Amino acid sequence: MRAPASLLVVFGATGDLAQRMLFPSLYGLQADGLCAQATRILGTGRSELDAAGFRALIADAIRRNVPPAEFNEGTLQALLDRIDYVSADTSDDSSLHALGDRVRALRNNGDVVYHLSTAPRFYASICEALGRMGLAGPGTRVLLEKPIGHDLASATEINDGVTRFFDEERVFRVDHYLGKEGVQNLLALRFGNALFEPLWNARHIQQVQITVAETVGVEGRGDYYDHSGAMRDMLQNHMLQLLCLTAMEPPARFEPSAVRNEKIKVLRSLRAIGSSDVLAETVAGQYTAGAVAGNVVPGYLEELGRPSNTETFVALRAHVDNWRWSGVPFYLRTGKRLPHRTTEIHLQFRAVPHSIFAGAHVEPNALTIRLQPDERIELKLMSKTPGLDRAGMRFSQVALDLDMHEEFASFRRRPAYERLYLDAIEGNSTLFVRRDETEAAWEWVDAIFDGWRAAGVTPKPYPAGTWGPAAAVAMAERHGHSWRE
Ligand code: BG6
Repeated sequence: MRAPASLLVVFGATGDLAQRMLFPSLYGLQADGLCAQATRILGTGRSELDAAGFRALIADAIRRNVPPAEFNEGTLQALLDRIDYVSADTSDDSSLHALGDRVRALRNNGDVVYHLSTAPRFYASICEALGRMGLAGPGTRVLLEKPIGHDLASATEINDGVTRFFDEERVFRVDHYLGKEGVQNLLALRFGNALFEPLWNARHIQQVQITVAETVGVEGRGDYYDHSGAMRDMLQNHMLQLLCLTAMEPPARFEPSAVRNEKIKVLRSLRAIGSSDVLAETVAGQYTAGAVAGNVVPGYLEELGRPSNTETFVALRAHVDNWRWSGVPFYLRTGKRLPHRTTEIHLQFRAVPHSIFAGAHVEPNALTIRLQPDERIELKLMSKTPGLDRAGMRFSQVALDLDMHEEFASFRRRPAYERLYLDAIEGNSTLFVRRDETEAAWEWVDAIFDGWRAAGVTPKPYPAGTWGPAAAVAMAERHGHSWRE
């Protein structure tokens, strides 16, 4: 492990993500003594604030976003003591030079992590400015927030712009799902147990379902969301990462190249869904007014205030065309304003090859890995229903159900950025996304968009508070499967 970076520079430091997630996560690291003594934090943004004004803003954000039981005034002060601010407009050279001078002074010859939490259109120009000022050399690395582009062409342009100044090993692309405890636990479950791996293939698994359901709407982010939609906002990144971790071969080691080499193989094995398949294999939806958890909510178009064909729901049937997964459908669905918030991976095993219990109903086994809101692992088994069974044994489905919060009740639930920041500061890119992964994911998603355009697909309406358009149910049912609800 290399020496921790001596400076973290957060671009977009007064923004929403910084206030809700980034600084509260740094607070968590401070509280646990995980922020190296010498590490300094420099916020930068267009807001004309002085360092004291910025610290006041951050103190307020932390008080609002850290759970009261975890808050301690002394910890906050210790974090604030590390924090500095310089306002900078990336299109203005003189302010950039002031930023550069501050970086040079604060880094103290140590490593620097630049976290670009700005609109992606600024990534290349920020990197260029850092390069021009001699601040992008060895010992520096850059964290990029999603979305990296809007399609393959724009992602390639951003990646080219960034890697002109930072070699790929020093580019850390954030997918905050990889920082989630539950997502890492998927790896622990698969590769820390001998039990599952022999069954983790097409011979034993009939279908896989990955669901990321949200109850929220677009939450005032309409301008961003309407240019993005469920496919670009969730499926291209978070969901394909979950698919990769579920489907990949065991990496030889838990280290950056080994893990990412396996993930890219999965992405490259995804069967293209082109114009001839989009109607059968994908469904796009858009919510209309309805009720979620008893609350009446407006439709997407009312929230947005203008007509739009952006999808707020997408469901599709993917195939990983390799030996391990041949013929196994991976059903993926994600959407806003669904009935409840859940992220889970569900593996449905094949039925027993032959039942010795004539006439008895025996359901196939299933393993569900729930990542949020609660973390649990549930294994569905068949059990004998108690009784004398003179007419033949009867069965009930029972669950081995592991509640991770109960099991690890004394552990604090950490926001994803604690893990990601710690790894970035220490230079470990295992849980960050490599360029080839992002681009392969875009290539696959772009083909679906091309297919939608060619087939004139527009999103089908679904009332808020339901599991998306009926067509999503029909898509699975055509193949004899049903979504888990
Ligand atoms: C973000 C998306 O990447 O992930 C949001 O832009 C979405 O639209 C969010 O709400 C979901 O993240 P989480 O951690 O709440 O599942």
